[in-house]
Amino acid sequence: MTDVASMGSEPGDERPILTNRQGHPVYDNQNQRTVGARGPATLENYQFLEKISHFDRERVPERVVHARGATAFGYFEANGSWGDEPISRYTRARLFQERGKRTPVALRFSTVIGGRDSAETARDPRGFAIKFYTEDGNWDLVGNNLAVFFIRDAIKFPDVIHALKPDPVTFRQEPNRIFDFMSQTPEAMHMLVNLFSPRGIPADYRHQQGFGVNTYKWVNDAGDTVLVKYHWMPKQGVRSMTAADAAAVQANDLGHATRDLHDAIDRGEYPEWELLVQLMSDDDHPELDFDPLDDTKVWPENDFPPKPVGRIVLDRNVANNFAENEQIAFGTGVLVDGLDFSDDKMLVGRTFSYSDTQRHRVGPNYLQLPVNRAKEARVHTNQRDGQMTFYVDGWGENPHVNYEPSITGGLREAQYPTHDEQGPEIHGRLTRKRIPRANDYAQAGQRYLLMEDWERDDLVTNLVDQLSQCVRPVQERMVWHFLLVEDDLGLRVGKGLGIAPEDVAHLEPLHGQDLTDEDRRRL
Ligand code: HEM
Repeated sequence: MTDVASMGSEPGDERPILTNRQGHPVYDNQNQRTVGARGPATLENYQFLEKISHFDRERVPERVVHARGATAFGYFEANGSWGDEPISRYTRARLFQERGKRTPVALRFSTVIGGRDSAETARDPRGFAIKFYTEDGNWDLVGNNLAVFFIRDAIKFPDVIHALKPDPVTFRQEPNRIFDFMSQTPEAMHMLVNLFSPRGIPADYRHQQGFGVNTYKWVNDAGDTVLVKYHWMPKQGVRSMTAADAAAVQANDLGHATRDLHDAIDRGEYPEWELLVQLMSDDDHPELDFDPLDDTKVWPENDFPPKPVGRIVLDRNVANNFAENEQIAFGTGVLVDGLDFSDDKMLVGRTFSYSDTQRHRVGPNYLQLPVNRAKEARVHTNQRDGQMTFYVDGWGENPHVNYEPSITGGLREAQYPTHDEQGPEIHGRLTRKRIPRANDYAQAGQRYLLMEDWERDDLVTNLVDQLSQCVRPVQERMVWHFLLVEDDLGLRVGKGLGIAPEDVAHLEPLHGQDLTDEDRRRL
């Protein structure tokens, strides 16, 4: 190996020598090689060409949603039981079993709609995506800070995102496009009541909650399943901003939340969240006025009390933003033994979408990158090659065998931990149907009534501000929905827009809309 340690250095300068990617020392990083000081450059100028052509390829496509975000690392510490009740009664997932057991984690916070350099003060859901590097492989829990979502069927996701993203012609986020879509989407009301309240602009990433939002399952040793929802509560408390607060912050800083997270960890003030779960028996619960697989709903805490499972602490910043924040890849399909999917129609669509986009965004070998690989588990696959293959994932006794089954020393299948059957039997015919018990307004109304006065005032101000930029038919339909959510909300937003309940009384329910008896009474 050529010793370049001292080449070209001033005596006593211990800094490493700059090289190109071939390991050649760089003698001059200020001037290209040319014919004479003023003459033409030559194409054999390898050092310059490598530098500039690598630069040309520095960017990968940004995430189609959640492009702006910040990642930090730390650990999850398990509680193991609730009093005398061991958690193993509900799940065999190993990371939860022992009190005090620690699992390394990465957590990426994000906004949703803006691009990679957009303002972090946006009124927007905040992403809360965690990667647990467990001994059984990785587990990703990809959630948000508002507990619910705009839609309940993944087939509508491209539409809701197109409506929220900038107009394809003006490239502005246009309230009229957003509320045009929302006015035809009654299941969005619960999310809108949250989003346009102060909760829609968290003060920063440390002072926000996180929720898994979708319904998952837990599986125990016997193969019994329960439905589960995940909640993350910040030890730092929850803080939000009004639109005026946000404008003041944004005037000075587009990245205040990333800075706050980074600086707090640098100072040794490690942010912490408690993980709680709500559990429900694995059936369709006809006694409830909503479907447990509907991600536009929360589960009432009186009936399904949140139980603490452990905590996460973030104690390390990224060493490099691109390697560990831009290239980190989460997905709802990334589960470990003891955790499972439910038939939530959003979850199934999400589970396809994440790894699909990551093969395109980062590349087919994105799981070989240090931040994404299952570093606490052994990885042995027969997946090979493709762009940017960094290493072979591990083989059996014979490196010639990249297939299975084989009698000549390849990889073998694992044994099921117990058996391969779990959960209830499902029967049905193929169909395209909305889930029953849509009940689009009741929980939105309860949320409105639970708010403090100033939060309700802020919600009304924000809705009137946005809706006053919309055309009259969109305004009328939104007032119609808000009257169904809660009279007071509909009346106040209507007043701000100059629309009285009589002005919307002629509107019929939307095509295919299911109204409850209570909704019909309000009409
Ligand atoms: C990111 C799709 C619903 C939370 C993404 C990405 C896609 C996507 C394609 C970019 C991933 C990447 O480039 O690495 C979908 C689809 C959905 C859906 C198809 C519905 C069918 C949701 C919901 C939530 C959510 C309901 C919240 C519970 C997130 C988060 C990220 C993300 C937090 C950012 C992950 C990161 O920080 O890298 N989503 N999403 N998504 N999504 Fe979704």
